[in-house]
Amino acid sequence: MCGIVGAVAQRDVIEILLEGLRRLEYRGYDSAGVAVLDNHGQLQRLRRLGKVQALADAAAEIGVPGGLGIAHTRWATHGEPSEANAHPHVSGDIAVVHNGIIENHASLRAELQAQGYVFTSQTDTEVIAHLVAREVSAGADLLVAVQNARQSLHGAYGMVVLNAREPERLVAARSGSPLVIGYGIGEHFIASDQLALLPVTRRFAFLEEGDVADINRKQVQIYNRQNQPVQREISDSTVEHDAGDKGEYRHYMLKEIHEQPQAIINTLEGRLHNGQINAELLGDLSDIDQVQIVACGTSYHAGMTARYWIEALAGVACNVEIASEFRYRQPVVRPNSLLVTISQSGETADTLAALRRGKELGFARSLTICNVPGSSLVRESDMALMTRAGAEIGVASTKAFTTQLTALLVLTGALARGRAGAEQAEARICSALASLPALVKQALRMSQSIEQLAERFAEKQHALFLGRGDQYPIAMEGALKLKEISYIHAEAYAAGELKHGPLALIDADMPIVVVAPHNDLVEKLKSNIEEVRARGGELFVFAGEAAQIEPAANMQVLAMPHCDDLIAPIVYTLPLQLLSYYVAIIKGTDVDQPRNLAKSVTVE
Ligand code: G6P
Repeated sequence: MCGIVGAVAQRDVIEILLEGLRRLEYRGYDSAGVAVLDNHGQLQRLRRLGKVQALADAAAEIGVPGGLGIAHTRWATHGEPSEANAHPHVSGDIAVVHNGIIENHASLRAELQAQGYVFTSQTDTEVIAHLVAREVSAGADLLVAVQNARQSLHGAYGMVVLNAREPERLVAARSGSPLVIGYGIGEHFIASDQLALLPVTRRFAFLEEGDVADINRKQVQIYNRQNQPVQREISDSTVEHDAGDKGEYRHYMLKEIHEQPQAIINTLEGRLHNGQINAELLGDLSDIDQVQIVACGTSYHAGMTARYWIEALAGVACNVEIASEFRYRQPVVRPNSLLVTISQSGETADTLAALRRGKELGFARSLTICNVPGSSLVRESDMALMTRAGAEIGVASTKAFTTQLTALLVLTGALARGRAGAEQAEARICSALASLPALVKQALRMSQSIEQLAERFAEKQHALFLGRGDQYPIAMEGALKLKEISYIHAEAYAAGELKHGPLALIDADMPIVVVAPHNDLVEKLKSNIEEVRARGGELFVFAGEAAQIEPAANMQVLAMPHCDDLIAPIVYTLPLQLLSYYVAIIKGTDVDQPRNLAKSVTVE
């Protein structure tokens, strides 16, 4: 969501801050700002509506010298995108950048206004600046001021604060929104994501919930929620330095789509051995009688697909739920239940809250399937199965999804091990997974034909995606991709449900995409296809030869590689990703940063 970068150094920090913001821009991007303290104690704040480049141009023109600074890209929650609402927010000598939402901002605002504090924005964040300023004017230093001020805050925050009167100090606090400290030599940094700091350091420590960090050039001291000094582990990042580069590709999304064969290879590395799942990976799961999966967005679709696998192959009962619903329900948790969260970022607020709620509800264990090492979900779960997709920058998730599915098949195999009736599952999963990277590569060769297909969609207002069984969530994911980046209204239906309503929508203006691998349900799906054809709908069917679906009037068949139907959900995802990408290209939308969306949703 919003991005934070801070630096305290002997050199000018503006370029470090701007580069950090550029690398975080994918998280939130309606406005950006910096505040830098120069050597004469002058605080200079610069904010711009729009892209980081607008801020960088302004900084280049004006010149922003100084070795202490904080910076932010904003994704509006409270108050429209505007320069006045952009961070940093300032009160006297205090400047603050903040991610998250202060839920009691209205009452705090009223209290502070009554005491004479003047508000210049509509944001919830501005109360933090005034609260800290009030503590400082009562005699507190910046650390104590932040420690005291946060007692009044309800809600979620990751914040970094500076005081123009304390020229070598940043104070950061975390409660609900992630922050990571970057360690340099004679300089220190802070950011909401380590990606922002990779050009300047590879040594990081994550703040934990409730931590406050006192950061100067020479040292970093971290305090826990009780204000006791604590040590947090410093480790070397494994994220690639150039993870933030597009390379030869026009968009991150296209790059990430093409990275999928390698990302899947990476995710499988060390996990399969001699036709079996590495036994040490998830330990003994034979006591697990039920699985509850919780996730949001694309990750939820991965969970929905996994339910078909876990029940059919391992014979273990499985429920899947959207995290924002699960966290506020009163679910019945049976003994020996495993809670599985799925998340690219590991920081999605609702998924994290669902994990915490799950712990109270008495799940036997928790497992996260996650792409970001050291993220909150990884740290707070009993077990983690990392997808190794590498940094995913495009807002529309692609390689994170297919690697999640890969990891979920590994989980299914581990759940099946030793269970009566599931003896064949592990070997079948391992052999199908071994063939997967090559099949994904083959599916990518459809790029050209899909580019042509995209022409048929670009002028449409609506589209329908159909699938059955484990392809139904893939149809949902295809529809989500099209909505996200090409702004075409797209719905997915389990094809058997067509006649219960959506058939009324079918006419020549409604393109219908069908994912139709050769599986147990293909004959039923063919009947559904006929129902659509009989009503004049225009069909685009992705099917392998074995499905024996022939092109006909108003029906184009796009040839898919032959594959085990077990992994077909992964292989059939590829053309749907490419379709949404090329439709967006024709429409000229902002593919990597679609309007109103953010990559990592760290607010509720
Ligand atoms: C946002 C992103 C989606 C993502 C969802 C869940 O909406 O735009 O691409 O699927 O969050 O994120 P997570 O990081 O938990 O997978």
